[in-house]
Amino acid sequence: MQRSIGNKAWLTINRECNLRCSWCYAQSRGYDNSLVIRNEAIERSLKLFKELQIYNVFVIGGEPTMHQDVCGIVSLIKSSGFNVSLITNGLKFCDVKFLNDLVDAGLDMVGISLKGCDQDKYEKVTRFDYFESAMVAIGNVCKSKVSHDISVTVSNEDVESFTSLLQDLKKMDVKRLSIDVERPFFDSKTICDVDESLAIKARMLECLFSPLENCGVEYVFNVRMPFFFFSGGFVEKLIQHGRIVSGCQLIGGNGIIIDTNANVLPCNQMHEYPLGQLGVDFATGDDYLAFRKRKDIDSFYKAMNACPNAKCVDCQYWSYCGAGCRFYWFRDSGNNLLHNSIS
Ligand SMILES: C[S@@+](CC[C@H](N)C(=O)[O-])C[C@H]1O[C@@H](n2cnc3c(N)ncnc32)[C@H](O)[C@@H]1O
Ligand code: SF4
Ligand code: SF4
Repeated sequence: MQRSIGNKAWLTINRECNLRCSWCYAQSRGYDNSLVIRNEAIERSLKLFKELQIYNVFVIGGEPTMHQDVCGIVSLIKSSGFNVSLITNGLKFCDVKFLNDLVDAGLDMVGISLKGCDQDKYEKVTRFDYFESAMVAIGNVCKSKVSHDISVTVSNEDVESFTSLLQDLKKMDVKRLSIDVERPFFDSKTICDVDESLAIKARMLECLFSPLENCGVEYVFNVRMPFFFFSGGFVEKLIQHGRIVSGCQLIGGNGIIIDTNANVLPCNQMHEYPLGQLGVDFATGDDYLAFRKRKDIDSFYKAMNACPNAKCVDCQYWSYCGAGCRFYWFRDSGNNLLHNSIS
């Protein structure tokens, strides 16, 4: 059977967290420390990934470093023949031994998400006074041999502090940066919008281009907003410079996301809407590919692929943008887009 499911898998190992980010898409799971993936589900997931010829596994949560056996999980994934990356708020890497243990266990890449550009913003977003710790942790990761990507979530008031943060990150020898903004998310099946002013957010991102181009660190803008919010020329500039990561996973349906209950999710944000469960709805790679062709699943992806706005129909950037993160559209259509496509 043809395998066309992409080359990335996300394994959600827990839901506990040491922060409380105001826009965290996982918050409706209550950061419950009893929500932990079972070893058997990890083993089944790895078998499935192999059968689907997916060899890049991203360990996520909650905060995955809070899992008491995160080293054992990383070691199991690595020794089963996968590249293994960890997506984390990084705080636990203040402890260099903990970081080294994970690297020795086989960790290939760390993605640290920094939740604000300075102390005040970090605390406002996360409700904890840990900005300095996050910076120490980033410094430790930069000094270690593991490869890294530092993702900075910026908000409208951050332009000035962003420039000074860039200088600090450069001094630490950060190799790669991603620039992100928070997106709307579900809170118990209701869309929560963190900030209505997408046009203002777009202007703010545009202001970051020059400081980033001049800072000497490799970077990309992680753009999930529909491109029409940006001023003429900005997106073209990012594309020309190879500085943009865009699109929505719901459109391509690529990759596979497993949550703590071994459910397969259509997107990390959609833990309230699992597609099916490993071991119940499918077990092998062939089962899964057949499951993806089931009428209801196929209709769901067709609905997600449909162009949600007339503005986008003839847009030359459709293949990059795809009208952006579907959560912006769920919001504007009162979730109808979703309810019409998921039973
Ligand atoms: C749920 S977290 C899990 C890993 C880890 N706790 C962390 O924060 O990196 C996974 C990623 O999703 C991002 N994220 C969570 N909610 C988001 C939202 N509403 N919009 C954009 N990114 C979000 C986080 O910043 C992080 O990069
Ligand atoms: S650190 Fe990650 S999991 Fe924790 S609240 Fe923030 S985004 Fe959510
Ligand atoms: S809807 Fe698409 S862009 Fe938005 S979070 Fe989900 S996969 Fe990402």
